Amino acid sequence: MPAATRRSPKARVYRGTPRNLARLAAVLARGELVAVPTETVYGLAADALNPRACRSIFRAKGRPTADPLIVHIHAWRQLEQLAEPNDAARRLAKAFWPGPLTMVLPKKACVPAIVTSGLPSVAIRMPRHALFRRLLKQCERPLAAPSANPFGYVSPTTSAHVLAGLGQRISYILEGGAATIGLESTIVDLRNPAAPRLLRPGAITREQLEAVLGLPVEVVHGHAAPAQPRAQIAPGLLLRHYSPHTPVTLHERIAPGDYRNASADEAWLLLMRPTGRTSPHVYALDPRGDLRGVARHLFGKLRELDAAGYRRIHVELAHGGGLADAINDRLRRAAAKG
Ligand code: TXA
Ligand code: MG
Repeated sequence: MPAATRRSPKARVYRGTPRNLARLAAVLARGELVAVPTETVYGLAADALNPRACRSIFRAKGRPTADPLIVHIHAWRQLEQLAEPNDAARRLAKAFWPGPLTMVLPKKACVPAIVTSGLPSVAIRMPRHALFRRLLKQCERPLAAPSANPFGYVSPTTSAHVLAGLGQRISYILEGGAATIGLESTIVDLRNPAAPRLLRPGAITREQLEAVLGLPVEVVHGHAAPAQPRAQIAPGLLLRHYSPHTPVTLHERIAPGDYRNASADEAWLLLMRPTGRTSPHVYALDPRGDLRGVARHLFGKLRELDAAGYRRIHVELAHGGGLADAINDRLRRAAAKG
């Protein structure tokens, strides 16, 4: 690359020392952005009660302001401060917080319109990641944070992914190691507690939600219910692709015959079983077939194959329900044509 076009990133990656946490809390308090680790994916955080700070999240990501943000909290009192929780929400929070569950509830007036895209509801999550929790506590304010990637690209699961995507546009990244879950949180709409709706599948499964609520949870996210007017249900999920630049083709099952004679510019990704090593262009994500391992490594592998210069990436879908539904949801978005 010619020297003139090589730019060193503006962002610095900070280790989670007490001194750095205090410094990053001060950065957030004065309305600047900090990329933060969570157990799901890295987020791009701003003071959720500062509209100007939240507006700069949309600018940094190139994200349309019609796509609302998730607000992260660390203390139970913050739930009541920001939203109007009902009994169903309290039961789910008790069962799954801190953790990868986001709940959509009627919002309180203190939540700025820019955070919710003008909606009367707000999405709230109490994350489990210890370092992010320490930062939230130190800030003493809720933090709005979407995934820390340029709009439309694959979500980041390491600080290196954040640096690669937003390193020129932000200044601060908190190092928190690789995300242990690797998929964005489950989103459940609880505005009507008698009719909960699953807006985005994640590591907390529909079955787990139903077991706690004692109610059926309607699936309204994209591919499970294609006939539904999704824009009215989950703004932002409508045009969401989470896509690599390389075209992705999905398969129920990939057979060795498919890739044995395939051209060298196509990659083949098996999620849950070994490759058998019949081609250097066939990859296995978790040869033991552990869905949690597949979820943890999926986005990193898609980024790696995207950077490797293949013309097409073939992926075999996950099987088994539960977490497989969330994995396949992200794969279908990655394969959707823009
Ligand atoms: O795991 C996660 O949820 C990560 C980490 C950083 O917490 N965050 C994340 O945020 O994935 P993001 O912005 O990439 O996805 C947030 C989505 C929006 O696109 C929208 O679909 C939904 O949450 N959402 C937010 N507020 C909503 C609301 N009031 N009503 C319905 N959906 C909402
Ligand atoms: Mg996102």
